[in-house]
Amino acid sequence: MSTLSSNDEPDATPAPAAALARAVGLHRSRWGAPTLVARAPGRVNLIGEHTDYNDGFTLPMALPFDTVIALSGAGDPESGLVEVVSEGFGEIAIDPAGDPTAVEPWARHLAGVVAILAGEGVASGGWRAAITTDIPTGASLSSSAALEVAAITALIGRAGRAMAPIEIARLGQRVENEIVGLPSGIMDQFISAGAVAGHASLMDCRSLTLTPTPLPGGVVIAIMDTGTRRRLAEVAYGERRAACERAAAELGVVALRDATVAQVATLHDPVVRRRAHHIVTENARTLAAADAMRADDAAELGRLMSASHASLRDDYEVSGAGLDAIVEAAMASPGCLGARMTGGGFAGCAVALVDATSIDAFTTSVIDGYRFEGHRATVWSCAPAAGASLVDPDAVA
Ligand code: GLA
Repeated sequence: MSTLSSNDEPDATPAPAAALARAVGLHRSRWGAPTLVARAPGRVNLIGEHTDYNDGFTLPMALPFDTVIALSGAGDPESGLVEVVSEGFGEIAIDPAGDPTAVEPWARHLAGVVAILAGEGVASGGWRAAITTDIPTGASLSSSAALEVAAITALIGRAGRAMAPIEIARLGQRVENEIVGLPSGIMDQFISAGAVAGHASLMDCRSLTLTPTPLPGGVVIAIMDTGTRRRLAEVAYGERRAACERAAAELGVVALRDATVAQVATLHDPVVRRRAHHIVTENARTLAAADAMRADDAAELGRLMSASHASLRDDYEVSGAGLDAIVEAAMASPGCLGARMTGGGFAGCAVALVDATSIDAFTTSVIDGYRFEGHRATVWSCAPAAGASLVDPDAVA
């Protein structure tokens, strides 16, 4: 992983394992050695945006940025308090019998895990934990999903249970849907739990399967942070999802995955028609992107990514001025094969496919070319990382 921002020299970011060492160090300084450590990565979605809650296809990869939870058990596993110190967010004591929606917003993801796991018969009280992350928060790189997946991985590990990535992902999605109150799909938690190192994954959100898919040769994935952060994006997310459900109901299909472009053209409301048009064409682009990756066709993959951005900007209307500006700066930069917003939209990060030999010139050019309301770009080039895992605490320096 390498990084450049307008104020930094190259490689100014910590190594991928930095959050791991910090979490173990924080636990040691507070309570002594942790007995269990779990990590879960953030993600970038290469293509297939807002398709997951339409039973469709997405193509995300895990990033070499982790959220880490280092814990030890000190109290009653059934009812004891959960004591947490979170680097950057502060401290909280969670009562497993309490209301998980009553705690501070950042801690709801954690209190939600405690509550949902208790409902599944996993004793989730009586522990203390140090939490750290290298995932920029609120940047559309799934820091919330990584926290949920890391905490679930840790607690089922503590209970001596094992779960398939999709089971972990579903529990994390329930935390978002039932406790945090965001009607999000399965993509973020599923890729954080199930990613295979060195590969992106074609995700079928109906059959709930992941197909590891290698990147074409000679390219790198660049993540470009606009420096903007979303506000009230949850409202727009719910509206988009409702429009998709309206369209599917009017067409008499289970989900928009089952609709064609011709069917969508018959929808009465012009806004619902545009939203549905994005979903149907995005599903086709995502399948074509996976084919292009298998055929080692980087130019076609880049073209599809740029077409996805145009559809999200014009039909689905979830881009933002900062995202459009950084995509434009990327497209005007050396070696760029395609670029698009990534994740829910409105703010945060975009992603570009870049010829590997041009990555340094690309990065400098995006930083020089992007200006939006005083924000500066940060650019990382990332290789696809592995999904969540337990880590031997004794092996951490
Ligand atoms: C957010 C949600 C995901 C997905 C994306 C858009 O990241 O959590 O489920 O819907 O937006 O593709």
